[in-house]
Amino acid sequence: MELCQNCHTGHLIDPPNGQQSYLKCDACNAILLLYKPMPHQVEYHKDQTKFKGFFGGYGSGKTVSTCQDVIHHILTTPNGLTLIGAQTFPQLEQTAMKEFFDWFPQDLIFHYSKQKNYVDVVNGHRVLFRTLDDETKARSLNLTCFWIEEANTVAYEYFTQLQTRLRNTSTKKHRGFLSSNPDLNWIKTDFLLKSETINQHGYNDDNVIYLQDVKNPAISSHIVPTHLNKYLPENYERDLKATKPDWWIRRFLYGSFENREGLVYPAALDFIVEPFEIPNHWERIGGADFGILDPTVLVLGAIDPDEGILYLYDEHYQADKPVPHHAQIMNALLDPIPNGALRAVMADPSGRNRNKHDGRTLFQHYAEYGIYFQPAGNSIDSGIAKVLAYFSLERIRIFNNLFNTIKEFTLYKFKPKELGDDKNADEKPEDKWNHAMDSIRYLVSILPDNPENLRNVSYGLYKDRLNGGKMKNIPYELRDDDNSYNSSWASNF
Ligand SMILES: Nc1ncnc2c1ncn2[C@@H]1O[C@H](COP(=O)(O)OP(=O)(O)O)[C@@H](O)[C@H]1O
Ligand SMILES: [Mg+2]
Repeated sequence: MELCQNCHTGHLIDPPNGQQSYLKCDACNAILLLYKPMPHQVEYHKDQTKFKGFFGGYGSGKTVSTCQDVIHHILTTPNGLTLIGAQTFPQLEQTAMKEFFDWFPQDLIFHYSKQKNYVDVVNGHRVLFRTLDDETKARSLNLTCFWIEEANTVAYEYFTQLQTRLRNTSTKKHRGFLSSNPDLNWIKTDFLLKSETINQHGYNDDNVIYLQDVKNPAISSHIVPTHLNKYLPENYERDLKATKPDWWIRRFLYGSFENREGLVYPAALDFIVEPFEIPNHWERIGGADFGILDPTVLVLGAIDPDEGILYLYDEHYQADKPVPHHAQIMNALLDPIPNGALRAVMADPSGRNRNKHDGRTLFQHYAEYGIYFQPAGNSIDSGIAKVLAYFSLERIRIFNNLFNTIKEFTLYKFKPKELGDDKNADEKPEDKWNHAMDSIRYLVSILPDNPENLRNVSYGLYKDRLNGGKMKNIPYELRDDDNSYNSSWASNF
């Protein structure tokens, strides 16, 4: 029998009530909790952020881990008040309450009112169990802590309301916990994407990128895949996986918040890379789209001539500014491009149209600032088909600091099909989140139809020119074809 570390005289024994979650000293009544967190749970418990979400696949340990943090709060906050809530009573009873009563030592419960659904703990802390189906119920509470179990099924108003209830003066350390399956509702938009940190536990073969505009230092999220829970029955994950579609496996076993359904370029998200310095000899192309209320956009690409890959490496993306402002920023992006390396800046062909007021075209206006656009073709269907071909042959990469471009890739969708639509009807993208998308379509429009031809020998010659024409030293027979008639794919537009 284990010696008690508190009094060093008694021994730790199973409590007479038969509960498995703790041992009790037979001399001093000290209690030893037997919960042993797994590594991902250790990481989660270390995180002391005020509002914390545990999101993950089925059986990833959402309920147990959150319950343990709540128990810790209760035991360390005398006279506090904690609300444990879920959408419906059966949900509450079968998940949060069940785990709570499994783990919380009965010896520390002073009073349990089944009728009124609360527990009084010996340190004066009260725990309320509540369904979150009526906002008015929580109105007069002064909480130290709340836990919303299966929070994705609970309305956002409860989360905001419970936050305002955290004003009990028994502690300075108020906490709010969410446990939930990944969902695309407020759990994603108002919690996950506003988190100061998004902790992805375990391997992440899902390749998900979460774009965050605003971060709130009081919010933190943890994403845990099912397979990290070593207490699950063998084959648990395999059996669940067996008959499920890919998106289901990503969402409910990997804990992914991603939704690629309906995206025009779903594959783009697999080709986002760390930025690096573009070698001087790589040829550059731009794509631009103009807006007044909509953003004006310039996306810059560079071509790796050895691998035949287009890297989208810089962007300008801003709405509601006059031409001189955009031109100044565009020039700042274009100026560092080595002489002769810029092939063209392709743009929305409507930039050629004359303005009713002064008869000038947008192209002319930009030309005054030294930026010369080429009109791109504007067939959306064939343009998208070409970009798709480049993605399917893995010929495009996107630098991960192109915030707006990546954001559009995650939002640029086909129009949802109406009921009774002809299945074979032409799919058209929605007319939104398409400004960087159009710019990229214009940019790609001057690339060769066959992406294989990006790996063009003319680039080698170009590189050679920059290297001071080393080719001259090579015997004539071994030199690449003469530059003058081996015209580049782009030199004849
Ligand atoms: N640290 C742990 N020690 C023992 N069992 C654990 C531990 N963490 C999780 N479990 C067990 O794993 C199972 C799934 O955990 P649970 O929290 O219910 O997952 P989820 O809420 O994500 O579906 C439960 O049976 C739970 O008891
Ligand atoms: Mg659960």
